[in-house]
Amino acid sequence: MQVRNLTPKQLSFRLALGVAFLCGLVGTGVWLLNSPFSFLFTFLLFVGSLLSSYFIFLWGIKHFIDRKIRLIYKTIHNLKVGLKKDNQQLDMSQDIFGKIREEVIEWDKHNRKEIERLTDQEKYRREFLGNVSHELKTPIFSIQGYILTLLEGGLEDKKINRDFLLKAEKSINRMIEMVDDLDEIAKLESNRMQLNFQRFDLSELCKEVIESTEYKAKKKKIKVRLANNTKPTFVKADPSRISQVITNLVMNSINYGKENGETRIKFYDMDENILVEVSDNGRGISEEHLPRLFERFYRVDKGRSRADGGSGLGLAIVKHIIEAHKQTINVRSVLGEGSVFSFTLKKA
Ligand SMILES: Nc1ncnc2c1ncn2[C@@H]1O[C@H](COP(=O)(O)OP(=O)(O)O)[C@@H](O)[C@H]1O
Ligand SMILES: [Mg+2]
Repeated sequence: MQVRNLTPKQLSFRLALGVAFLCGLVGTGVWLLNSPFSFLFTFLLFVGSLLSSYFIFLWGIKHFIDRKIRLIYKTIHNLKVGLKKDNQQLDMSQDIFGKIREEVIEWDKHNRKEIERLTDQEKYRREFLGNVSHELKTPIFSIQGYILTLLEGGLEDKKINRDFLLKAEKSINRMIEMVDDLDEIAKLESNRMQLNFQRFDLSELCKEVIESTEYKAKKKKIKVRLANNTKPTFVKADPSRISQVITNLVMNSINYGKENGETRIKFYDMDENILVEVSDNGRGISEEHLPRLFERFYRVDKGRSRADGGSGLGLAIVKHIIEAHKQTINVRSVLGEGSVFSFTLKKA
């Protein structure tokens, strides 16, 4: 048997037995040497030393555990979340050392997980800051370029002065858009977004979105249509947020669509939910990009998407909104053929 698995009581007993044997041996020796000691006396000596040393050892061990180990034990216990303090009284008939070992291992596992989580968070924070400054640099540098050209004589040149001011304004608008998106992400991630659940007609909302994006769609000769626009489809959700989601998806289908293409919004009835699909026959996305598509700042074609004007935060915001509704969003896509974004909403 391993010493590690002994309980304090067992350990005390073994030690006491050793002491008692020694005493017994001495008693027997003295008795055999013709002393006044009798067998009974030797026996009593054995039993007496066994009992007294047992209690002395037990007390000593308990005292030692109390002073040294309990402090560690309690610290570990108190640091661990969700564990009740059931160790106020140590049980001497338990394998305390084994138990402490288990606790320490468990505590270590818990700590490792926590450290991993914090490291991930730290990495994410650094990446996020890097991305933000990188994204803001592009419009800032172009504004700086336009202003410098204007200052260095462009202001007097009627051919470019207005044009450059308009371009600078466009870059400023991009920055504002981006800062708004960042603000939105920050709110969503700290759960400060209050959802205003209402019962509303999804068909009606989609028609409004189509109207509001018509100008952009026409510019690219893309037709946006609602497939089942005849009957009303009622859902329970936050209408302004869902409008934001559909607008984002429709705008993406226009931005990354082909000229003369088509975007279609369609609803499917699924028991408790309505599945909303926004599909296009645009440029599509190759499979390797799909798992990361909803990450902040993730773009398939970095240079081109930036020229198209997105902040790279659109789908991240969309996903947050859908998840805040406790629903899911998915994407299917074939490169060169088109993409389908689908999400669910609770029926009402
Ligand atoms: N309908 C789509 N067709 C093709 N690619 C798309 C589509 N929607 C999104 N993407 C790709 O996903 C990326 C992320 O989209 P999003 O988060 O809206 O950012 P942004 O539009 O600002 O670039 C886009 O840059 C684009 O590459
Ligand atoms: Mg977008």
